[in-house]
Amino acid sequence: MPFYSEKVMDHFANPRNVGEIPNADGMGEVGNPVCGDMMTFYIKVKENKLDDVKFKTFGCGAAIAVSSMVSEMAIGKTVDEALNITNADVAKELGGLPPNKMHCSNLGADALHKAIENYKSKKEV
Ligand code: FES
Repeated sequence: MPFYSEKVMDHFANPRNVGEIPNADGMGEVGNPVCGDMMTFYIKVKENKLDDVKFKTFGCGAAIAVSSMVSEMAIGKTVDEALNITNADVAKELGGLPPNKMHCSNLGADALHKAIENYKSKKEV
């Protein structure tokens, strides 16, 4: 059995939605101090739905696959639905991650949630 699922390998080799959104409605950045990996998510919101999601990840293969999967899962969802995407959901969608790589999936959902919180706080001002 391979170390990573085919889905992980696919998203690692062909990550979706890589990049930045100029004038993003929200931006969230997280880092893991232990491995040093960094992830930034950008979101564009239209009529309370995530119209576009992009990311930049400097990290391990699992972190890149996770970011790509999170972006795909989030696009088209409402802001609140996207806030409900959990780390476990992401790992499950990817067909599982090795136990020592679970922290990489945490990074993905956290970065997305931060971007949404950033969007919400801007809206309140
Ligand atoms: Fe740190 Fe994967 S090794 S995010």
